[in-house]
Amino acid sequence: MTNDQDPPRRRFLKAGVAAGAALGAGSVAHAATKAQFKQPIDPMLMVEPFFGEHQAGIVTPQQSHTYVASLDLTTDKREEVIGLLKEWTDAAARMSRGDTAKPLPADDKAAPDSGDILGLGAAGLTITFGFGPGLFTHEGKDRYGLEKRRPAALVDLPRFNGDQLLPQKTGGDILIQACANDAQVAFHAVRQLARMGYGIVAMRWAQAGFLSGPRGQTPRNLMGFKDGTNNPSTAKPALMNQFVWANAPDAPWMNGGTYTVVRRIRITLEHWDTMERGFQEQVMGREKYSGAPIGKKNETDALDLDATDKDGNQVIPENSHVRLSNQATNNGAQILRRSYSYNDGTDFYIERWPPWRQETEYDAGLIFVAHQSDPRTGFVPINERLAKFDMMNQFTTHVGSAVFACPPGVRPGSFIGAGLFET
Ligand code: HEM
Repeated sequence: MTNDQDPPRRRFLKAGVAAGAALGAGSVAHAATKAQFKQPIDPMLMVEPFFGEHQAGIVTPQQSHTYVASLDLTTDKREEVIGLLKEWTDAAARMSRGDTAKPLPADDKAAPDSGDILGLGAAGLTITFGFGPGLFTHEGKDRYGLEKRRPAALVDLPRFNGDQLLPQKTGGDILIQACANDAQVAFHAVRQLARMGYGIVAMRWAQAGFLSGPRGQTPRNLMGFKDGTNNPSTAKPALMNQFVWANAPDAPWMNGGTYTVVRRIRITLEHWDTMERGFQEQVMGREKYSGAPIGKKNETDALDLDATDKDGNQVIPENSHVRLSNQATNNGAQILRRSYSYNDGTDFYIERWPPWRQETEYDAGLIFVAHQSDPRTGFVPINERLAKFDMMNQFTTHVGSAVFACPPGVRPGSFIGAGLFET
């Protein structure tokens, strides 16, 4: 994600609204005292609007945690799918405000919410829904009468070089991406939504992720490099319209939505950590500490892909990650990356690159999330090249993959994906 941040005032006002909601409506004005304008904003009190033209969690500045879940639809009834989407919309709007998924009853007869977030703020929670190919056709069957409405851009991703996809971490009919400034708030959201879908959806895979960066700066991934620098700027609507928001005539119900690719990419940290910094920088094409392109001074300096050293060698190496993924070498293609690191403890691995170690290693890496107006001109061609030539492949393995059509945002009174179900 870029380091474009919300203007501090807007974020403060959101925090003020959250504080007001917690204290009672009359407290909003009281909360915004001069003294508090000087205070750092409490990330737990931030509130991101759920309703809007676009879904939250796509161009929203990245929160510190994510919980990404992919569910399979187990019902054959179209009405049940619609009913669940309506229920989810209400619950997601409530939770985004910092409320429980459903109102808590006065008696002790029902437990409509796990309650583990009581007393916590909204923590900037965003909940983003997406539809996988299985909503449109499932094992050759048109379960819900939606086959003809499948957008051409919702492609089945091809197999890429080196893919080692695990079925239990791949695919899915529905995406729920919850991002928040608190791990428990993010998990809570998915947990309540999944529970509401009992008998209609079943969990396929889920992945927690985190992101740490000094306030206002590009965060570093587990390889130690700043990640997100050369994203298209979310502050430029023209760029978002061109590269992120869907606008294809074959699926007008997706206008203002986006196509989201999720890849679980394991990084062999044990191997990476034995590499000299100079080599790591050659792999990436950027300097580690400053984040600048090799040969440049500042993180935001433009990549000069033509620069050569005194011996005529390219300064940014031929097979470096940034050269191969930059728009100049991909027919102008750009994607909006909004990834998180993950760290799932350890497992026994046999490495696929020299020195072919066989040992217990970290199961850690990147939960890569990329939004685009069309994966056929975005993720697919870029990853085709990376999968074949990227020097980083010595250290990374794609073990999970999914693609979703994330519909546009919701108006109050409507529900997520309503346009798809209109006849
Ligand atoms: C573990 C896997 C990955 C890691 C650790 C990683 C890390 C990075 C880093 C450090 C940068 C430079 C800073 C920046 O501009 O953000 C970068 C740039 C980029 N990456 Fe990745 N990346 C990974 C996988 C991917 C994949 C799978 C794709 C797409 C198919 C991708 C696409 C890009 C793009 C488009 C850029 C911007 C290049 C530019 O225009 O300068 N990355 N990545």
